[in-house]
Amino acid sequence: MISLSRLRLTAFLATSLLCVGAPTFGQDRSLKDAAQGRFLIGVAINEKVFLGKNATEVGIVTSHFNSVSPENCLKWETVHPEPGRYDFSAADRYVAFGAEHRLFIIGHTLMWHYQTPDWVFKNPDGTPKNKAQLLEELRSHIQTVVGRYKGRIRGWDVVNEAIDDEGRLRTDKPWYRILGEEGVIEAFRAAHEADPAAELYYNEFSLWLPAKRPAVLQLVARVRAAGIPVAAVGLQEHYMMAGPSPEEVGETIDAFAREHLPVMITELDVSVLPRPENYAGADLAALQARKAELDPYPVALPETVERALAERYAALFAVYRNHASAIKRITFWGVSDADTWLNNWPIPGRHDYPLLFDRGDHAKPALPAILDALARP
Ligand code: G3I
Repeated sequence: MISLSRLRLTAFLATSLLCVGAPTFGQDRSLKDAAQGRFLIGVAINEKVFLGKNATEVGIVTSHFNSVSPENCLKWETVHPEPGRYDFSAADRYVAFGAEHRLFIIGHTLMWHYQTPDWVFKNPDGTPKNKAQLLEELRSHIQTVVGRYKGRIRGWDVVNEAIDDEGRLRTDKPWYRILGEEGVIEAFRAAHEADPAAELYYNEFSLWLPAKRPAVLQLVARVRAAGIPVAAVGLQEHYMMAGPSPEEVGETIDAFAREHLPVMITELDVSVLPRPENYAGADLAALQARKAELDPYPVALPETVERALAERYAALFAVYRNHASAIKRITFWGVSDADTWLNNWPIPGRHDYPLLFDRGDHAKPALPAILDALARP
């Protein structure tokens, strides 16, 4: 007969072995455990991860995160590169990775003005498609993609970035020039019909801007009024060191909570690099000429900036912790600084440091800073 103390010892050893077997990369706590009961903790992954080409990053993802988003592999240009031709080879592997590791799998994104081929908007003779034709293309794409992963992809960024910073529908883009707001509503309708159980999200950046937020609230209200459930608004949160302030971040979450709309932080990162003024229309050659000023840390991040980044993340997570009832998920936009999109935007070839793991996949001080912030009541 096994004694109680022997049972306790066995249980203790089993737990210890489990801890040893689940490395948390220099930490004694994992992010997803620290956020347990508050929100999911996700990360956007690229092919290196979901094809298993970087075992360390696979370990990081499975030990610290309980949700994944596809950085690029489910975008229109990848899954539907030509009329009538779908290519799900990468997306299938992404979904299989998420299922194998029991992660909450996100789909991203069904309707966006980037990474969507020109042919979507044009007839073979080059003339623009009319509204009926483009609606049919949109509905057919969404039914095919969402239908393929029905029951496996649990939440979809259905529409991405339809509103500009002044709060107007982006009618300079073909989706909205041709379809108007009806395009947004029909995208949500098609996604809901294809998988009624999937959560549907509207995903947007810079929602801390006062002019932009009401327009998104009204747009989502009209989708809901059409009888289509919108589970949450995605706040992308590609932030800078200097802003937005924690107060602005908190106010943004409150504004959606007041309208009974939960939020998700869908694409979190914090750039430490200077952002050149007027970069959107800037001459790339002129920016390259200022590379030393605009790419100040080509070899390593100075200790002071590293510490400031950790403090910035701690301040953000203090806000998230205090607003936990309104937040369903927080997703980092990438695993390591080596692969962040910010190395190539708005200027290609810079060295940014916006994530929790460095170029060698080692945990940065930002990780324990977040764990500490989450540990507070
Ligand atoms: O696939 C090609 C490859 O064939 C080619 O050799 C290579 C050379 O540049 O480019 C590859 O395409 C790149 C693609 O990422 C896949 O790596 C594109 O140039 C590059 O522009 C593209 O950037 C992505 C960006 O969306 C496009 O707008 C980033 O990885 C991705 O992180 C970023 O993610 C977006 C979200 O989807 C929506 N919110 C904003 C966020 C940041 O821009």
